Amino acid sequence: MKQQDWQGKTIWITGASSGIGEALAKAFSAKGANLVLSARSEGALQKAADACSQTSTLVLPLDVTDETKMANAVAQVKARFNRIDLLINNAGISQRSTALETDMQTYRAIFEVDVFGQIALTKAVLPLMLAQGHGHIAVTASVAGKMGVPFRTGYCAAKHAVMGFFDALRAEVGHQNITVSTIVPGFIQTNISKNAVAGDGSKFDGADRDVAGGMEAGECAAVIVEGLTKRKPEIAVGKGLEIHALWIKRFFPNVLIKLMYKQYHKRAEAIAEREGIG
Ligand SMILES: NC(=O)c1ccc[n+]([C@@H]2O[C@H](COP(=O)([O-])OP(=O)(O)OC[C@H]3O[C@@H](n4cnc5c(N)ncnc54)[C@H](OP(=O)(O)O)[C@@H]3O)[C@@H](O)[C@H]2O)c1
Repeated sequence: MKQQDWQGKTIWITGASSGIGEALAKAFSAKGANLVLSARSEGALQKAADACSQTSTLVLPLDVTDETKMANAVAQVKARFNRIDLLINNAGISQRSTALETDMQTYRAIFEVDVFGQIALTKAVLPLMLAQGHGHIAVTASVAGKMGVPFRTGYCAAKHAVMGFFDALRAEVGHQNITVSTIVPGFIQTNISKNAVAGDGSKFDGADRDVAGGMEAGECAAVIVEGLTKRKPEIAVGKGLEIHALWIKRFFPNVLIKLMYKQYHKRAEAIAEREGIG
């Protein structure tokens, strides 16, 4: 399949105020794409936009849990750029709590952002892509969408759910010139654990040794851009053991189960030592 040239294309990135989304904005700006940057924090979005001065950028604050604002948001993008070539559903929140500690309300809140937000915006954008005769939709899932990781029951459930939705969507729209890519990051150095929720829904705001030791966000963005340029259906990105866990799970599932028991104990000890958990 022909590789994508991003010059003059319109790319809408959610979760663009921080971390992977912000790094993707910079990387696509360097490739000459027009950008639409969304998240809730307008100030941080504006900062991200300022770092993308090579290209035309629309700062479009949007809470992905607010479905009622999406039609208007799509209309604003259409009015400014008259097309959407790539939508990257990247907004997300993580979790740091055991299943026993986690309120049902917290599980629902995680799903609102990580699952229903991605689905709703995709459904709002898809008719425009079909009308223009082409498009590319991506979602930042996670290695946690491929396996169960302790202290993240809700996050893992949500990321498995988006993997399922977008894999099924690909099968439906592939023949209509719409590409669907699932992005599967391992540990990436961002504010993900700081912004994660605790069991009661409050901000976890904790340190995370695995994330701190993960791949740098700019390097991660470069791998993702390359994968999207090649229109890869799935893009795995990371540098640690968690990336190897993808094939370990497939070929040696019992080994992975043992590794996850170890992971639980390692982190439980870290909590006891008040070192923060990953
Ligand atoms: N870092 C990792 O190790 C890692 C690994 C696997 C997958 N991921 C995934 O990568 C994606 C980006 O996360 P990150 O690591 O870059 O973390 P981050 O630095 O915490 O960024 C999360 C982004 O999501 C936005 N967001 C959160 N809730 C939102 C909402 N309701 N509406 C709109 N935007 C919202 C945040 O902006 P506002 O707060 O301004 O709204 C922020 O821009 C997430 O989907 C995450 O699950 C990360």
